[in-house]
Amino acid sequence: MSRTFSISPGGTLSGTISIPGDKSISHRAIMLGSIAEGMTDVYGFLEGEDALATLAVFRAMGVRIERPGPGRVTVHGVGAHGLKAPAETMDVGNSGTSMRLLAGLLAAQPFECVLSGDESLSRRPMRRVTEPLAQMGARIDTAPGGTPPLTIHGHGALRGIRYDMPVASAQVKSALLLAGLYAAGDTCVREPAPTRDHTERMLDTLGWPTELRDGYICVRGGARLRGARIDVPADISSAAFFLVGAAIAEGSDVLLPSVGINPTRTGVLDILKLMGADIELLDQRMLGGEPVADLRVRGGGLRGIEIPVELVPLAIDEFPALFIAAACAEGRTVLRGAEELRVKESDRIQVMADGLRTLGIDAQPTPDGMIIEGGRAFGGGSIESHGDHRIAMSFAVAALRAGEEIGIRDCDNVDTSFPGFVSTARTAGLGIAESRSAMTSGKM
Ligand code: S3P
Repeated sequence: MSRTFSISPGGTLSGTISIPGDKSISHRAIMLGSIAEGMTDVYGFLEGEDALATLAVFRAMGVRIERPGPGRVTVHGVGAHGLKAPAETMDVGNSGTSMRLLAGLLAAQPFECVLSGDESLSRRPMRRVTEPLAQMGARIDTAPGGTPPLTIHGHGALRGIRYDMPVASAQVKSALLLAGLYAAGDTCVREPAPTRDHTERMLDTLGWPTELRDGYICVRGGARLRGARIDVPADISSAAFFLVGAAIAEGSDVLLPSVGINPTRTGVLDILKLMGADIELLDQRMLGGEPVADLRVRGGGLRGIEIPVELVPLAIDEFPALFIAAACAEGRTVLRGAEELRVKESDRIQVMADGLRTLGIDAQPTPDGMIIEGGRAFGGGSIESHGDHRIAMSFAVAALRAGEEIGIRDCDNVDTSFPGFVSTARTAGLGIAESRSAMTSGKM
């Protein structure tokens, strides 16, 4: 049985919409809290399947982690050398962040373990982390295509390296920094373009800061982290569906409280503003080590743009939602330089183009992006999400501008990043209902 959404066409979004905690920060709070000394108290933790998969991994390695209430997690850190060998294979489900970051952390532990994932994760490339980790002395086996499962033959003799990352990836950077906490000497990483820096900020909070040297982000080995309180902002990647929904539906007016506006994540705001969206950042402040604001968005006319290529890594998870904005914007929108979208939870260029065309929208996929002719009325239809949470939620908000009902199949994975999406969206004004239906070979 699989979850299906049906959304009636039209409507507006209004009111205050509470967005769940940031997924990237929630993962890191569990990982770094576990290897810190003393207690780490997390507030606003994302209780989605991905972050819970990370939590289960550390419990399997002997860390006591309590969940005293909604959004609250208490991690009783075991120190850098306190993790225990897990009894069995650790399945991280759909979570690429868990698998890639853990590859770095576990390569430095004195035991062997295996990380596996679901069908989607089992197709995703892992050499981008295993190859530089091998240069540090790590021994990690992948499946023949460089995909999961990962068998990590951990040992305590990693050495620091200086590494120029070929792709702008926060997961690769973080995997190397986590391994670097244990390596002999310094581990220094240079990114071709800035990517999310939550690992660096949290290391700072826990008392083992990274250093920027000649364009390289460096961490010293032999780390000792101290547990601390961590406040998790609302996830701008989850807020994106409501930013876009409100922006495309004239008459909408929403307030999204305490959303993370870390400058390495705000490409979606910049791109929507370039398209003419009415977005205000209210009460900007710091929450823990991360900047947040209340975001107010009002619906109005959008225009198509050429998306500046330097904004791509800063909005990498928001393109499914941004393609919907582009479909509703007057004129042409062109995205280039985003080939990474092809190796996310699904091939987000192809899957989004297929779905947009199902609705009657003129969308041309290219090897590294998409060209969308927007602003024309479009219909409804049945969309395949391919089990990708962000594809499902993007087409859900597209219904605000559709002429007919939109059905979306294979929506179970929405819970990986946005538990409660359906009730949140319904309260905000979306005519969304869900049902369960049988699946045959990946299709309904
Ligand atoms: C993430 C980094 C990004 C992003 C993913 C979360 C992270 O992946 O797409 O959803 O938490 O570090 P890449 O590093 O592969 O770009």
